[in-house]
Amino acid sequence: MQRMNGRVAIVTGGAKGMGAATCRLFAQEGASVVIADTAEEEGRALAAELGDQAFFQRLDVTNGEEWQRLVATVLARQGRIDALVNNAGIVSFADIEHVSEADFDRVYAVNVKGAFLGIKHVGGAMKAVGRGAIVNISSIDGLRGASGVAAYVASKWALRGLTKAAALEYGHHGVRVNSVHPGGVDTTMGNPVGLTGAAKNSGYERVPLQRIGEPGEIAAASLFLCSDEASYICGAELAVDGGWSAGHYHAMLPGAPASLAPAG
Ligand SMILES: NC(=O)c1ccc[n+]([C@@H]2O[C@H](COP(=O)([O-])OP(=O)(O)OC[C@H]3O[C@@H](n4cnc5c(N)ncnc54)[C@H](O)[C@@H]3O)[C@@H](O)[C@H]2O)c1
Repeated sequence: MQRMNGRVAIVTGGAKGMGAATCRLFAQEGASVVIADTAEEEGRALAAELGDQAFFQRLDVTNGEEWQRLVATVLARQGRIDALVNNAGIVSFADIEHVSEADFDRVYAVNVKGAFLGIKHVGGAMKAVGRGAIVNISSIDGLRGASGVAAYVASKWALRGLTKAAALEYGHHGVRVNSVHPGGVDTTMGNPVGLTGAAKNSGYERVPLQRIGEPGEIAAASLFLCSDEASYICGAELAVDGGWSAGHYHAMLPGAPASLAPAG
């Protein structure tokens, strides 16, 4: 059974990374996918790969007029929008004292305003027909703090809050809104130097599953939340982080008792 058969899904930042994995998985599950991204070359190449089941539409998520055009185009072509994955995002690495105002504004514009505009323009179309699912790709950094990425952390917490507010406004119209919180994922953002093999898992020793995530593993969470299997899930936050947000794994110290329970 295909879980997205006959449905139409928009994936922002769909040309690369986990957005591309999401487009591939949704298409495989029967959806018609709109790859919405500023990266035209990669977006068109992915649309060609997916054939009749996808088309590319250039979208800068920070631009409300482009969102309006996108929604009008999709409704004219497909007649419906069933799912929106607000996945486009950027990061800026710098201590708070060294984050420029321009960088802070840019991170907020893409990560927060981008999703806000998506909900604003697509949510209305979903509300009108009384059904739909929106997934906001936040981060483990929307569940706890992290140093050196303050603008990003603040934006991902904001996205988590936006998700709750939207769930309250849209839930009673049949539109479910949820957030996904990936840990480290093997994309340009999560593995910028392109480490391969065991090397790409270095630094993950204290994450319970002790490895970086794969883009398809995050796509699977978005698919679940957009499918009918998640029909009673609204306003939830789903960590897909190998257990990272649960805490840090520490191996038992040598000589420590194996168990506090009495032996035998
Ligand atoms: N990779 C990780 O480790 C990780 C961890 C947690 C959360 N995330 C989040 O997952 C999402 C996807 O990240 P990724 O790792 O695939 O990153 P990526 O850099 O591989 O891909 C991001 C995509 O967003 C697009 N994009 C950027 N600005 C845009 C804009 N203004 N309008 C439209 N598209 C735009 C890019 O062109 C690109 O295709 C992001 O929101 C990111 O913050 C990533």
